[in-house]
Amino acid sequence: MPTNLREALRGKLTEDELRELRAFDIIGDIAVVKLSKRLLPKKNIIGEALMEVHRNIRTVLNQTTPVLGEFRTRALEVIAGEARTETVHREGGCKFKVDLAKVYFSPRLGTERLRIARLITPGETVTNLFAGVGCYSIIIAHHSEATRVYSIDKNPDAFEYMVENIRINKVGDRVVPILGDSREVVERELFGKADRVLMPLPEFSHDFFDVAVRALKPSGGVIHFYDFGEEPDVFGPALEFAKSAALSMGFDVNLLHARKIRSYATRCYHVVLDLLISPGLKI
Ligand SMILES: C[S@@+](CC[C@H](N)C(=O)[O-])C[C@H]1O[C@@H](n2cnc3c(N)ncnc32)[C@H](O)[C@@H]1O
Repeated sequence: MPTNLREALRGKLTEDELRELRAFDIIGDIAVVKLSKRLLPKKNIIGEALMEVHRNIRTVLNQTTPVLGEFRTRALEVIAGEARTETVHREGGCKFKVDLAKVYFSPRLGTERLRIARLITPGETVTNLFAGVGCYSIIIAHHSEATRVYSIDKNPDAFEYMVENIRINKVGDRVVPILGDSREVVERELFGKADRVLMPLPEFSHDFFDVAVRALKPSGGVIHFYDFGEEPDVFGPALEFAKSAALSMGFDVNLLHARKIRSYATRCYHVVLDLLISPGLKI
């Protein structure tokens, strides 16, 4: 029995082809690979080898486009196993039902989701501007004594799965799912309510920074600002942006913590800045 994918594919792929294999994700009982053009003629062989090595995998999907658009979804094709894209993923003591072809989901954010949940103090109100299928919000409710977690997403499919995941994880007393554009939702019903705001959408976080500030209580609070950063100054530009955007709204920013979440290219990172936002001194 082969113990890893390379071993399972030795003799079926050339040495050059083996070198092209990249890391893959396991989400519930589905594996997601991203095959280079060169490996496409061997996609079914690779899918079957993955299922041979990981006996709990029922489906192997190949991601055929990058994560795209406002809803951050990607095109997937089945290359081995059952023809489906829906699964249930377990993370941080919770279960998440997802359709990988219809919603965004990454198992690589598990550590970050738990980190945020552990920062929350009893009684907090949290607003999640980009909640997806509810992962951050539900993990927060499960691991903290937050009073309310307002959980917004614009993708109707993500919203449906979020509602289902709130039910499965029995956090409906505290997690409030809201379908809509977070800018409109905050203006309409969540203005000035939160102690803490999450912005887990680095592609658009600059465009929504003012929304996050407006979602906070007038006395201020914490914003988890997700962005991209490059060596040599990984956090500087994100912090400068946040400081100047907050200042233009009459708020001060203090950096509580900054961390690299993952690297997406050489010396380029997906980052998060935990920012304490407080009303500026009036002169
Ligand atoms: C990168 S995903 C994050 C999902 C989730 N936080 C997670 O960890 O799985 C970003 C989400 O933001 C949603 N989104 C994009 N623009 C939005 C907007 N203007 N208002 C509300 N949700 C939006 C997308 O539909 C997507 O589900």
